[in-house]
Formats: sequence, structure tokens, C-alpha cells
Amino acid sequence: MADQKSKILVIGATGAIGKFIVKAGVREGHPTFALVRESTLSDPIKGKLIEDFRNSGVVLLYGDLNDHESLVKAAKQVDVVISTVGISQIADQVKLIAAIKEAGNIKRFLPSEFGSDLEYGLNDAVGPAKATFEEKIQIRRLIEAQGIPYTYVASYCFAGFHVSSLAQIQPGLPSPPRDKVFVWGDGTSKVIFCVEEDIGTYTIKAVDDPRTLNKTLCLRPPNNIYSMNELVALWEKKIGKTLEKTYVTEEEILKNIQEDSIPMNKFIWALVLLIYVKGYQANYKIDPSSGVEASQVYPDVKYTTVEEYLDQFVL
Ligand SMILES: *[C@@H]1O[C@H](CO)[C@@H](O)[C@H](O)[C@H]1NC(C)=O
Repeated sequence: MADQKSKILVIGATGAIGKFIVKAGVREGHPTFALVRESTLSDPIKGKLIEDFRNSGVVLLYGDLNDHESLVKAAKQVDVVISTVGISQIADQVKLIAAIKEAGNIKRFLPSEFGSDLEYGLNDAVGPAKATFEEKIQIRRLIEAQGIPYTYVASYCFAGFHVSSLAQIQPGLPSPPRDKVFVWGDGTSKVIFCVEEDIGTYTIKAVDDPRTLNKTLCLRPPNNIYSMNELVALWEKKIGKTLEKTYVTEEEILKNIQEDSIPMNKFIWALVLLIYVKGYQANYKIDPSSGVEASQVYPDVKYTTVEEYLDQFVL
């Protein structure tokens, strides 16, 4: 590997995890490019974010997944492509793969995953979670069939979503509940959390690393593995108060997956079942022929612990 750092292109740069990956690219000294739609510039929030990117030295390229030429042109300027597109665009990544193939110069592709370790999670996934996993797995198979070098990132649970809400899985909770909490199943399954900035850092560290070539990078910071009961107890200790707990059974969650009228909620219930009740995340050993664990390969990264992360909400 030359000492020159790879040029990185992020597709989905203004999204929930994309922005952290762009920022980490800059922080780690990579020439960092973001593919954005020109129309996004006028969006009040995303436009501001794009302005921040530009000010920090990110090169903005205009285009989108439906514009093949824009993708090929963007890919030709970089060495690594990281996709962080949202759930509704997972299947559309076939267009990105076609462009990468045509460009012919990409040394590593990271498709949009940044969540479950798909092929392990699939065994316990149901409903819309299963459908999404299958879609992402199809993308993996296409990448492999096309002979594109890859890294898959299994980042498990975003702290900004799961820890800040104390696993209540309601978007937009500004801080963990202080009175009452729902506990999924019996609350004993182990779950893995990672702060978004650290997901960015680990992802960027992996792009030039031969140890992660054609492997899944699993983010399992050892101090960030908690059962829901342990997570709630940690919070209770920090605020010096006991929360009222309502245990929600597997049957009730299954019923919600079936009956919730909002499709996104069905998906979230399916994740609650998979992650907090079935507890697959910490239940398997990483097979060294197909995966590596991030905190082991990058022991120099001082990741934020759940314990530290919760402090910002205590006041
Ligand atoms: C990495 O995987 C691709 C298929 O996605 C394959 O063509 C390539 O030879 C592999 N590289 C190495 C070094 O194993």
C-alpha cells in the first residue's frame, strides 16, 4: 500500500450515517468526495450540511443514482466508494455497481449496510427486516459476482438512536426517559452499541487496510455490549432514580409487526424483535475467514463508551 491515502467518495453523504463517514474521511486525512443532488443544496438542513462539508475541504460532485454518467465520472476520480444510501435505495445500488464496474478503477466498495451482520441476523429476522436483509444480501452477491473488492460494515446499533432513547426506538427522543420505560422481552439479550462518530472512524480506517479486504468489519467495542436490563440499570444509577418498567412480550411484538399501520413502524418492531428479544448480535463468534472485529484491528481508536455517552444526558 502506498503511503498516499485513498480518495474516498461517499454516496448518501447527507444521510443518518453518511455525514459521519464524510467527516471521518476528512479527519483521517483522506481526499473526501460527496455525491450530492444539486436540488439538495436548497434544502434548509441538508444544504447547510453540504456547506459545512465544502468548508471542511470535501469535494462536492453533482449527480445521483439514476444518472449513470454522473456515477461513472465520480467513480473515476476516486479509489474507494462508500454507499450509505437509505433503505428505500438499497436495490438501486445495482446502478452504482454497474458504474463502478464500468469505471474499472475502484479498489474497494462498501455497500450500504451499517447495521446488522446480515447473514447471521437473517436466521432470526422476520417480516420487513428479513426483506431488507435479503435485499442487502443480493447486493453483496452481485458485488462478489462482478469481482469488485469490498468491505461490509456491521456496526450494529447506532448510539444516537438506541442509547439516547434507552432502546425505546422512538425517533427524535431528545434524551432517555426518566419515568417509564418499555423493556423488550425479558431484557436479558446482549446488544452492541456504537457511537456514530466511531462508526465513521472505524469505517474509514478499514478502506485502505488489507486485513479488511473482502471481509465484514464487525464493530463490537467490548465496553459497549449491554443487555437492555443492564442499560436501564446504568441509566438509573446515573440519574439516581428507578424507572417504572413495562415488559413487552415476544408475542406482543410479533403482533405489532403484523398489525402496526405504519410500514416504518413494522420494520422497527421487526428490528426490536431481532435485536432485543432474539439477541443475535453478540451471540455468534466472528469467523476469521470472513470477518474481523474493529476494536481488535484498530486498538488505537479511543471509542466512546456507552457509559460516557449517557453522561451528556444526565445534567
Ligand atoms: C475480493 O473479492 C472480489 C470479488 O468481490 C474478487 O474478485 C477479488 O479477487 C478478491 N480479492 C482478493 C485479494 O481476494
